[in-house]
Amino acid sequence: MKEILEELENRREAARMGGGQRRIDAQHAKGKLTARERIELLLDEESFEEFDMFVTHRCTDFGMEANRPAGDGVVTGWGTINGRMVYVFSQDFTVFGGSLSETHAQKICKVMDMAVQNGAPVIGINDSGGARIQEGVASLAGYAEVFQRNIMASGVVPQISVIMGPCAGGAVYSPAMTDFIFMVKDTSYMFVTGPDVVKTVTNEVVTAEELGGAGTHTKKSSVADAAFENDVEALAEVRRMVDFLPLNNRAGVPVRPFFDDPGRIEPSLDTLVPANPNTPYDMKELILKVADEGDFFEIQEEFAKNILTGFIRLEGRTVGVIANQPMVLAGCLDIDSSRKAARFVRFCDAFEIPILTFVDVPGFLPGTAQEYGGVIKHGAKLLFAYGEATVPKVTVITRKAYGGAYDVMASKHLRGDINYAWPSAEIAVMGAKGAVEILYRAELGDADKIAERTAEYEKRFANPFVAAERGFIDDVIMPHSTRKRVCRAFASLRGKRLENPWKKHDNIPL
Ligand code: HXC
Repeated sequence: MKEILEELENRREAARMGGGQRRIDAQHAKGKLTARERIELLLDEESFEEFDMFVTHRCTDFGMEANRPAGDGVVTGWGTINGRMVYVFSQDFTVFGGSLSETHAQKICKVMDMAVQNGAPVIGINDSGGARIQEGVASLAGYAEVFQRNIMASGVVPQISVIMGPCAGGAVYSPAMTDFIFMVKDTSYMFVTGPDVVKTVTNEVVTAEELGGAGTHTKKSSVADAAFENDVEALAEVRRMVDFLPLNNRAGVPVRPFFDDPGRIEPSLDTLVPANPNTPYDMKELILKVADEGDFFEIQEEFAKNILTGFIRLEGRTVGVIANQPMVLAGCLDIDSSRKAARFVRFCDAFEIPILTFVDVPGFLPGTAQEYGGVIKHGAKLLFAYGEATVPKVTVITRKAYGGAYDVMASKHLRGDINYAWPSAEIAVMGAKGAVEILYRAELGDADKIAERTAEYEKRFANPFVAAERGFIDDVIMPHSTRKRVCRAFASLRGKRLENPWKKHDNIPL
């Protein structure tokens, strides 16, 4: 018995050492933590239950039979984040560069299957040289098995990818199908083909960082949702984010203790909207002042800054926020912001997270770049996402709500449950200047006449009352009472039941 216990301990110790001290040191020298250190930081202390620590690969080509490290380059299991269960896998770069073999893939698939069955999120920590070259097609098959599970798990349990090293080739497609991707600055890369192949095929000379670093994917491509300074910060932020998420699509949002009065009045909001309708203001201020304890977890902060997306809590319950940002492009909707917000709305709806929308939108951004880029189809994504969402939807129009963009931004007509407007709201087909130029083209030479027409138009339409008279706006509320009114609105919607007609799935304009 003693011997077998010793053997167990020896085997565990060997598995914990991964690819050996030299490679662990090399990992640390790059500023990266090991697979196990990452899990320790991600999960609550002592909560990790590991599976398949003794799994080894079965490859016999290229002398691989002589090198069969326990665990096969990925650490898998489950644990808790602030007491709530999550499944994890963490690729171990010290073992064959974290490359994915048949058995490595089987380990990942096992935790994904358990996550779906038991209704808990999956967090994948990616640090891998891609398909294990020695295994050939067996490794490609392994990737496809993971892909298939990503697809089946989508909308059932939240899937989060943390990119903490290289992620190349088809390997990027597993993270791409998860709900959120977080990267670490300067040590993580994602690309379908690396800089060398790019040079051969297109003659472009580009560094790995430029091609697929955290900056590229958070600012340009929007593949990643956020980037952090180092492994420690990234894992701490993933913990913070998981606290906002439901465990699965049936669990409902987590309810946390809160220490912020739902009736809190914010007098400063009464002066948030400037007197001049063309002067920008920071919509983030409104979000922070409405949220419990000012806590806002922003998604895609660096991309399409003309719209804000992220999670807050109201009375301790998670709410997804979408808000036009007048500071950037005057808050116009365009291709990027529509895509960004549409994906966020769909995530919220899939996981029963209520949606709060703050509106200040002068319309869709005009121009050939937008039209050639397909703004019609991309804008339709957001329209579609809002219209199909059945979760509680509360909307507050702070200032402009013009034209099609008024309809899109969770209007009453797209089954908005409670639609409020501030007294400063202007709900119309377009702004006064544009409207007068079209309606009174013949008078354009006469400045006084035009000023008179503009004033007349503003008086008639630059207010919330025309919409309120029709019931499109449920009430005109004082800015200082926004938190209170919105908290009460969501409280009143907790019992909401709404179902879309049966269909195999919809055909959202992708
Ligand atoms: C087997 C691999 C490996 C791989 C790295 N290693 N990638 N072993 N299969 N794919 C091993 C190395 O041999 C080395 O072993 C150790 O991991 C560390 O690698 P280094 O090259 O020393 O590290 P570094 O300089 O940091 O470079 C990391 C890297 C590079 C950028 C990831 O290793 C690399 O380019 N690897 C190949 C990437 C690739 O082309 N993969 C296939 C992509 S196609 P030792 O013993 O020396 O420590 C793909 C298809 C997926 O993934 C298909 C899905 C549809």
